[in-house]
Amino acid sequence: MCGAGISTAAGIPDFRSPSAGLYFKLKKYDLPYPEAVFDGDYFRQNPLPFYSLCRELYPEVLTPTTTHKFFTLLRDKHLLRRVYTQNIDALEILGGLNKKEVIEAHGSFQRSYCTSQKCGKEYDLQWLKKEMFTPEKNDGVPKCEDCQSVVRPDIVLFGEQLPSRFHSSISSDFSACDLLIVLGTSLAVSPFNTLVGRTKPGVPRVYINKTKPGKVEGIVGWMLALSANVDFSRDEDLFLQGFCDDIVADICSAAGMSEELENIQVQSMK
Ligand code: OAD
Ligand code: ZN
Repeated sequence: MCGAGISTAAGIPDFRSPSAGLYFKLKKYDLPYPEAVFDGDYFRQNPLPFYSLCRELYPEVLTPTTTHKFFTLLRDKHLLRRVYTQNIDALEILGGLNKKEVIEAHGSFQRSYCTSQKCGKEYDLQWLKKEMFTPEKNDGVPKCEDCQSVVRPDIVLFGEQLPSRFHSSISSDFSACDLLIVLGTSLAVSPFNTLVGRTKPGVPRVYINKTKPGKVEGIVGWMLALSANVDFSRDEDLFLQGFCDDIVADICSAAGMSEELENIQVQSMK
């Protein structure tokens, strides 16, 4: 399981880190509250802050990190059942995993679609990027070529359903799981964070993160997180505190797999 912390080394800021996190950069957008920029209802009223932020943050080149390579190495060693990611950057795929090996719990920026229910025309990332970066043409918000409605990436905003594949895969994946590794996520967001409670009794859970788990959002989320024990205080849990790229490199070194890790071939995307 992973989150924004595995992509910060690729130049994408995370959400909740003090000063560097996205939610601390939003003052100028005059939002009612920082998370509004990723709120489905707010986006439908005013998609401009979302797209302004995307323009500001979009990295020139997207390149997978050492942690993404580590996932592919685990797959090559037949040790990987699945990666559950909250990230929308598709770096797991650029790092070498197949689509079926990844559950993009919060969707992906690779695909987008027209928000008119009558139309629903689909677009790819190249089209979205071109439209996003010609704000003078469309007032800063990409519009459908056929019906002029707002186009949005196929990501999950707050208040929206997670993909059905997320829900349908949990039960079999977690009953097969004999080691859960959780990297680069504050585990503040439900339902994703509740997955850490789905391991069978006695299954070790390893949390690799720069900081301790964050404050869980919402009262319902907090109650769910409590039962999932997102603070990793079970006897069989392990917390490895630090940068995930360094820690996975140390693990590979201890396992004699440093060279194989370095040799994993990745793709970059402009
Ligand atoms: P957060 O920003 O909440 O958490 C990122 C975590 O990664 C923090 O605990 C950081 O300390 C840690 N971190 C940052 N860089 C790191 C590094 N190089 N090595 C190790 N740890 C590092 O991001 P997420 O947990 O992914 O949802 O956030 C979850 C969801 O909240 C996102 O998917 C998004 C957001 O609102 C939606 O937009 C629906
Ligand atoms: Zn349309």
